[in-house]
Amino acid sequence: QEDDFKKVISHAKEYGYVFQSSEIYDGLSAVYDYGQNGAELKKNIREYWWRAMVQLNDNIVGIDAAIFMHPTTWKASGHVDAFNDPLIDNKDSKKRYRADVLVEDHVAKIEAKIEKEVAKAAKRFGEAFDKDQFLETNQRVLEYREEGRTILKRLGRSLEKEDLADVKKLIEELQIACPMSGSRNWTDVKQFNLMFGTKLGASAENATDLFLRPETAQGIFVNFLNVQKTGRLKIPFGIAQIGKAFRNEIVARQFIFRMREFEQMEMQFFIQPGTQKEWYEKWKETRMKWHLSLGMGEENYRFHDHEKLAHYADAAADIEFRFPFGFKELEGIHSRTDFDLGNHEKYSGKKLQYFDHETNKNYVPYVVETSIGLDRMFLAVFSNALQEEELENGTFRTVLKLPPVLAPTKAAVLPLVKKDGLPEVAKEIIDDLKWDFNVLYDEKDAVGRRYRRQDANGTPFCITVDHQTLEDQTVTIRHRDSMEQERVAISELNGIIHEAVDM
Ligand code: GAP
Repeated sequence: QEDDFKKVISHAKEYGYVFQSSEIYDGLSAVYDYGQNGAELKKNIREYWWRAMVQLNDNIVGIDAAIFMHPTTWKASGHVDAFNDPLIDNKDSKKRYRADVLVEDHVAKIEAKIEKEVAKAAKRFGEAFDKDQFLETNQRVLEYREEGRTILKRLGRSLEKEDLADVKKLIEELQIACPMSGSRNWTDVKQFNLMFGTKLGASAENATDLFLRPETAQGIFVNFLNVQKTGRLKIPFGIAQIGKAFRNEIVARQFIFRMREFEQMEMQFFIQPGTQKEWYEKWKETRMKWHLSLGMGEENYRFHDHEKLAHYADAAADIEFRFPFGFKELEGIHSRTDFDLGNHEKYSGKKLQYFDHETNKNYVPYVVETSIGLDRMFLAVFSNALQEEELENGTFRTVLKLPPVLAPTKAAVLPLVKKDGLPEVAKEIIDDLKWDFNVLYDEKDAVGRRYRRQDANGTPFCITVDHQTLEDQTVTIRHRDSMEQERVAISELNGIIHEAVDM
């Protein structure tokens, strides 16, 4: 698994998808830049989401709110008081860890031990090995499993203030060693706020303390009435937004899975109080369908319903995806009640109510939100697409099987040789296709090598111009995934590509 993940990271760099930020200065931890292909892939994911959420829904509109917001926003939203991570310092190494992650890592180690026992037994028993039976009966495995379960139960999913001492005890009891030094000398667990602070204003005395927004959602809540009134929107309706968010994440070692600067695609759906259960279920289902529409394998998704809820929610679920390091949260669907609008009313002193013409009543709407990280979706798409395939002749190829609709480049046009007028014809084809698609030209190396390069680049089609083209205006078009080639007329290319890559 670790090797697979390393391959994802190095491939992303090698093919111009993702670079470490400020790499020439040795990088900035948990901050990344998107290269020429990454920026295109990201843009295509963004558009795929926007089209499904805004364009195809009559009752959802999109906005673009500022990253800076009035500081009281974050009092009202609860982020000043409750947006914390539990941290623990090792006194000897002076290193800081997230307490819950430390314990989760310990559980992962237990799971690895179980895997090892299983592998050992499988080797010993050969074909007669029954994994399920082994897991149910082997004493050592049973003990490991029990230990893991007990720890996770005590840890819970999110830590409340009362639990902090308990987590410290757990860390000490388990003798979880500091990963660097083996030392077990810990401080108490402290809560650490994840928001980045900055200042607005020229002089130190009268500058205002601001936060960089840790979620885009609040820009929607504070604009709720502006949008509802100017758009003459009737409940139920939604407001969607895509934009940057910032969190001072402490454990930031999973590439673009957990970043300090990232992008969110969020939609707040405003509804009548009392109907939240129904809408929550509806949005869970709708969002799962969106994911499945990309054809990345049903078995790679699952719901995780939360037992412990964030400060704003009365129900919450994650859509989890099978990343190279296991199933992890990709998107959250939260029933946020009137928590946000109610608090903004309280803190701003302005009414944030909706007048229902049918019942002649005012009320603060309830909200169901869907929230997905664009970078995390990028990682899901990219890691799922990267494959090493053994071919019939025993050689291997690296292929990036991106959903064609998301691929940065839709087709590469290749003259078979660099002479006889073939490059000119190839460039004419590009000049025609580039109005509709991102296409590129490649004349370097043998054509087989060029195919491999485009496979690894994720390009769904290669179009080869050869001498026959000069006679009959046909080319070969090669399909990335099947590697099949067909002879088609140049005039058909546009239609063939449209059919494969259109949303
Ligand atoms: N408005 C609700 C909200 O922000 P969240 O569960 O904290 O909820 C929503 O975040 C989504 O944003 C997550 O499911 C994840 O995809 C993405 N996300 C959160 N923190 C992130 C980080 N540090 N780096 C990348 N993506 C992140």
